Amino acid sequence: MSDAAPILALDRVTKRFGGLTAVSGVSFRVEAREILGIIGPNGAGKTTLFNVISGYYRPESGRIHFAGHDVTGQPPHAICRLGLTRTFQLVKPFGNLSVIDNVMIGALTRLPTVSAARLDAERVVETCGLAAHAAGHARTLPIGLRKRLEVARALATRPRLLLLDEVMAGLNPTELAGMIELIRRLHADGLTLIVIEHIMAAMMRLAQRIVVLHHGETIAEGAPAAITQDRRVVDAYLGEEFVLAQA
Ligand SMILES: Nc1ncnc2c1ncn2[C@@H]1O[C@H](COP(=O)(O)OP(=O)(O)OP(=O)(O)O)[C@@H](O)[C@H]1O
Ligand SMILES: [Mg+2]
Repeated sequence: MSDAAPILALDRVTKRFGGLTAVSGVSFRVEAREILGIIGPNGAGKTTLFNVISGYYRPESGRIHFAGHDVTGQPPHAICRLGLTRTFQLVKPFGNLSVIDNVMIGALTRLPTVSAARLDAERVVETCGLAAHAAGHARTLPIGLRKRLEVARALATRPRLLLLDEVMAGLNPTELAGMIELIRRLHADGLTLIVIEHIMAAMMRLAQRIVVLHHGETIAEGAPAAITQDRRVVDAYLGEEFVLAQA
């Protein structure tokens, strides 16, 4: 880890739903320009953690610092304005709006005029490989393009840190390769990312470091190669088949 201040720091963050502790004392840091991966079984608390970081849920305890600000408990729009945006695991574009209009909504969060937002949205749509579909209704897009639209909508808010929640789920191999390429390009252009993903092959190609959650707790953190060898991670999530396939 570098000496520079991290772009994001979580300090013992806990989020409960009634008697269930969905996120339990989670601490980690993300350096600027890093891609951090988050993995773990279904129900491990990954999406809940994103909801807490991005301000959709207030944690019961712990602190979250982003870009020099204590953002703990701040609302999503305030955190977004500071440069932290997330995508949703269940994609929810405005189906009756065109692709370009969906992206414009993101751009309008920081640009004062519709014409400026449209120009900016056109650039983002191009970046995300959606130019041919710009005028089409969001609801008519196949899943692969809807996932790209979800990324485009988030990108239009011009984040410094982007949280991606399973944007590769359900994609065919060609779409998957395209999404990995897009994420790598965004990273090369200076974006910092946290990526939740079940597709380990994709995770291994993207993440520089991985945090593993299990029952809301961090059970391992480290380089992808070390994580896949970690006994607790194999037992809780990856399974012996994964280890044998890697060998
Ligand atoms: N709004 C909520 N109210 C009550 N319980 C919730 C809520 N959101 C999540 N949970 C519970 O918190 C736990 C963590 O859920 P979460 O969605 O964060 O898991 P996840 O790691 O994202 O799983 P997946 O890989 O299936 O997406 C689960 O037991 C879930 O049922
Ligand atoms: Mg989830």
